[in-house]
Amino acid sequence: MLDIDWKGLPFGYFKTDYNVRCYYRDGKWGELEISSSEYINMHMAATCLHYGQEAFEGMKAFRGQDGKVRVFRWEENAKRMQSSAEGVMMAKVPFEIFKEAVFKTVKLNEKYVPPFGLGASLYIRPLLIGSGAEVGVKPAKEYLFMVFVGPVGPYFKEGFSPVSMQIVRDYDRAAPHGTGHIKVGGNYAASLRALTRGHEEGFASVIFTNSGDRRFIDEAGPANFFAIKGNTYTTPNSSSILPSITNLSLRQLAKDMGLEIDLRPLAIDELGDFDEVGACGTAAVISPIKKIVDRETGRTFEYCKDGKAGPISTKLYEKLRGIQEGIEDDVYGWNTIIE
Ligand code: PLP
Ligand code: COI
Repeated sequence: MLDIDWKGLPFGYFKTDYNVRCYYRDGKWGELEISSSEYINMHMAATCLHYGQEAFEGMKAFRGQDGKVRVFRWEENAKRMQSSAEGVMMAKVPFEIFKEAVFKTVKLNEKYVPPFGLGASLYIRPLLIGSGAEVGVKPAKEYLFMVFVGPVGPYFKEGFSPVSMQIVRDYDRAAPHGTGHIKVGGNYAASLRALTRGHEEGFASVIFTNSGDRRFIDEAGPANFFAIKGNTYTTPNSSSILPSITNLSLRQLAKDMGLEIDLRPLAIDELGDFDEVGACGTAAVISPIKKIVDRETGRTFEYCKDGKAGPISTKLYEKLRGIQEGIEDDVYGWNTIIE
């Protein structure tokens, strides 16, 4: 038995036993290789190091009450990684290779999948990098796809307890015709100054606005933003945000609960009208927001007056976790059980 404090796990790197790698050379993908090294050997002129030719994914595997291990919606992550590859001109990882690499890595590290019911899961990190050497600005001819995993706890230390967030207007993570809609490292580098300052100023995360007139909400750091008013679930449809698979799933679940779905630009000016607001993503799951402060104007919006998540956010959270842990019926076939 592993000596791990499953309940106290942070969201962070955790060394496990194996990772899986696959190289693209001479115009084709090779065989999957299993490695127990945490390091990769790379050419110093690899395009990922100089020109940001890289993309990653974030997924989770959960141990159910029945002891089985389920991976959530892997096809959506495979699709999004292909779209990221296209966006920065990398070789696309075929679905079959993506699937085999993810499932093999989880299986090889199965003992690290946290037990049911402790609020932890196995985070899966697929990574695609330009490994070929170039000095001119151009796409590499060689790529490395790899997958590593590690047990994690909640992304925000508050877990499902409401957090405070800060609207920023002096930094952008992405531009309208840039790379905000794909999962490439540069977007995260661009978010670091705002995010770090936000943490120093006491906020769990920052909320980025549209980089044009800055009247609208883009997303909440490494998560999408959603808001609930009466019977409506609203979420921004900005072209510079990452299409979140969690958000996609929550929209389906909200619809099934009888809510209207409103996908449209969401103005800062209307934040005072909502009953519940939150951030959602693989790492964040649902993170209810109790307070939003507009850093520039000082304007403050408050929710969760009783200190707890709102009823609809709670219902959505329980339904999503229930499906992922095999307690609720998986009517849409979102889970794949690891055999
Ligand atoms: N937005 C950003 C910028 C992210 O990094 C993530 C995390 O992957 C999300 C949103 C949420 O997406 P998903 O629900 O697919 O994890
Ligand atoms: C995720 O939710 O999977 C993310 O990738 C967010 C962050 C850790 C980058």
